[in-house]
Amino acid sequence: MFGATGDLAQRKLLPGLLHLSCSKLAPEMRVIGTSLDEIDSDAFRKLAQKACKEFAHHKVTDELCEQFISNLTFVPQQAGPEALASAVAEQTEALGGDDVRLLHYLSVPPKAVLSVMDTLHKADLAENSRVIMEKPFGVDLESARDLNKAIHERFDEEQIFRIDHFLGKEAAQNILAFRFANGLFEPIWNRQFIDHIQIDVPERLTVENRAQFYEAVGAFKDMVVTHLFQILAFVAMEPPTELASEAISSEKNKVFRSMRLLDPSQVVRGQYRGYRDMPGVSPESDTETFIALKCEIDNWRWAGVPFFLRTGKGLAEGQRIISIAFHEPPRSMFPPGSGVGQKGPDHLTFDLADVSRMSLSFYGKRPGPGMKLDKLSLQFTMEETGHAGDVLEAYERLILDAMRGDRTLYNTAEGIERLWEVSAPLLEDPPPVRSYDIDSWGPNAVHPLIAPRAWRLPFERGWRGKK
Ligand code: BG6
Repeated sequence: MFGATGDLAQRKLLPGLLHLSCSKLAPEMRVIGTSLDEIDSDAFRKLAQKACKEFAHHKVTDELCEQFISNLTFVPQQAGPEALASAVAEQTEALGGDDVRLLHYLSVPPKAVLSVMDTLHKADLAENSRVIMEKPFGVDLESARDLNKAIHERFDEEQIFRIDHFLGKEAAQNILAFRFANGLFEPIWNRQFIDHIQIDVPERLTVENRAQFYEAVGAFKDMVVTHLFQILAFVAMEPPTELASEAISSEKNKVFRSMRLLDPSQVVRGQYRGYRDMPGVSPESDTETFIALKCEIDNWRWAGVPFFLRTGKGLAEGQRIISIAFHEPPRSMFPPGSGVGQKGPDHLTFDLADVSRMSLSFYGKRPGPGMKLDKLSLQFTMEETGHAGDVLEAYERLILDAMRGDRTLYNTAEGIERLWEVSAPLLEDPPPVRSYDIDSWGPNAVHPLIAPRAWRLPFERGWRGKK
C-alpha cells in the first residue's frame, strides 16, 4: 500500500482491509505499507490501530483486530526498491509461497504514480501483479492519453484497476439489479416514459483542510467527470449481454460515446463565499466548489431526455440521490384545485447512502369527500431487510473485486478518455463562477438551468424510517 499513512489509507483502506481479513471474505493476506514518512512497522501498526478504531464500519473483536494489526509491516519509501522487495519476499514466505498474488494500492498523488510504478519494476514486483489506481486520471483529454500511454509502457491494461468508489456503493450496484432483474421497470426506462433524470450529490462539508488539493481541481473534476458520470452510465446503459466486466464496460462506454459534448451555456459554476479566504486558495480563485449541468445522450433510448447533474461543497444538505422523473399524463380529468401535478411528476428515487433506499412517488386520493390528490410514496430501505449489516463499504467491495481480478466495477482507459473529450468544451470555456452562501442550495442560476422542471431536492417529505 503506497501512501499507507495518508488520509485515504486511514479512513478507508486500513479499516476496509481489516474487515475483509476478519470476515474471511478475502483470502489470507499480508499488508505492507510504504510512504514518505520515515516510521517503522511498530509506528505504522499504532497508526493503523487508531485508524481502524476510529473509522471501521463493522464491529471486530479486539482479538481479530490485534491479529490483523500484528501482521502489518512498513517500509519507508526512502529505503528503496530492494528493501520493499525483501519485505514482500518475507511476507510471501509467511503466507506459504507460490500461490501468493500481489495487489498494489497506489494511494498517492498523480505526480507520484509513474515513479511508484517504476519502483515496482525495480523491485521486481510488477509481473503478474494488479495495481489499483486512484483518480485523477488526467486533467483533460491530452493528459489522460499521456498518462494511459505511460502506464501501458509499464503495465498491461489488464493489470490496472482504476477505482471510482461510487461504483462500489451497494446502492449503485443495486441500480443494475433493479433495472435488469425485474420485468416491471425496464420496459418504461426510456424516452417514451421518462421526462428527465437528476443525479444530485450536494455535500455539507466545505473543502476544509483539503483546500490546497481542491484549488487545482474543483467540483467538476473532483466529482462529475468521475463519480457522477459513472453513475449516469449505470442509469443509462443498455442491458449488457452478461454480468461480466467486458460486457458491462462495453455498454458503459457506449453511453459515454453517445454523450453530447458539454455545452458551457448549460453549466452553472459556483463558489461558496469565504472559499477565497481559505489557506492555500488564491484570493482571485476561479475554482468552482459547486457545479450543475445538463447532459444529453444522443441515442434512441434517451434522445430528448435531459440528465441534470449537480454537486457542491458547503450546501444545505448532504444527499446522494438519483431521481427519475416520469412524464405526466397527457390530459387531466381532475378538477382545478385537486392538486394533480402540483407536486411535480411521479418519481423513482434512489438514495446512494450506504444503507440504500428507494422510493416511488405517485398521486393518490386524499380520503374524504371530493377528489383532492396528494403525493404518496412507496419506500424501501435496506434497513428493513436484516441485511444492512452485510453491506460492504465501497472500498471494501472494490478491493475485494481487485483481489479476485474482477474489473466489473472499475473504469477503463477508453471510458475515461471519452469523458475528457465530452468535457473539453467546458474546460476550454468555463462560465464564470457565481458566489453562493454556505448552507444554501448554490447559486440561483441553477433554477433557470432546469426550468420549467424543478430540482427534486430539498425533499418536501423526508425518507420514512430510520435515518
Ligand atoms: C471523493 C471526493 O472522491 O468523493 C470528495 O474527492 C467527496 O470531494 C467524496 O467528498 C464523496 O464521497 P462519499 O462516498 O462520501 O459520497
